[in-house]
Amino acid sequence: MKRTLNFNIFRYNPQDPASHPHMEAYTLQETAGMTLFIALNQIRELQAPSLAFDFVCRAGVCGSCSMLINGRPRLACRTLTESLPDTITLLPLPTFELIADLSVNSGKWMRAMSERLETWVHSVEETDLDRIELPMDPDLAEHIYELDRCIECGCCVTACGTAQMREDFIGAVGINKIARFKADPRDQRNDQDYYAVVGDDDGVFGCMSLLGCQDVCPKELSLQTQIAYIRRKMAFAGL
Ligand code: SF4
Ligand code: F3S
Ligand code: FES
Repeated sequence: MKRTLNFNIFRYNPQDPASHPHMEAYTLQETAGMTLFIALNQIRELQAPSLAFDFVCRAGVCGSCSMLINGRPRLACRTLTESLPDTITLLPLPTFELIADLSVNSGKWMRAMSERLETWVHSVEETDLDRIELPMDPDLAEHIYELDRCIECGCCVTACGTAQMREDFIGAVGINKIARFKADPRDQRNDQDYYAVVGDDDGVFGCMSLLGCQDVCPKELSLQTQIAYIRRKMAFAGL
């Protein structure tokens, strides 16, 4: 049976002095296979031309469409309306700078985190191409590929109590990245180099094992395993 969907959507444009934060209601007829991407586009086309939200790939790959969907951080493009009740509340992800309505600047947060952790392969010599081109054990390549599946959607940061309290906490996304580069034999950083950037309360010791990150990760990454791995390595290294 066709449902009428009732949307409550956060509206606010910080660039517009006349704008103030509020919720606005919209209704829509549900259609078969409707995702929130389709629903939001219909709302924008027919009812709210200025509604701001982000989508690029529509396939769960770019990470740009994450938002709070009935209180839970999720990817809107991968969320079928049929999986939700007929009242749907949409809010932008907190933690990140608001651009407008449902659009946030998670890229700014991710870039700052990546620069702080230096999330790129550090070679002894920048021209050390022989080492970079060395064949890699397939199991290790598979392991690195698995850690590289993070799409930087920010859902884990929003779901994390520590990230809400500590502005500079690198989140499970950052700890996962350190685990990724530590596993990569092409990265010539030593343990002290890695741990210098994650060995404090804004890093792995700020994590209170709340596990919200792993619950909401749309790529189902084993974030808790990576956090525990980095902690164990630091303890064994006596750092
Ligand atoms: Fe998103 Fe998962 Fe990456 Fe966090 S770890 S940014 S939830 S894909
Ligand atoms: Fe946050 Fe995940 Fe740790 S939710 S507290 S990073 S286990
Ligand atoms: Fe790219 Fe949703 S639009 S992940």
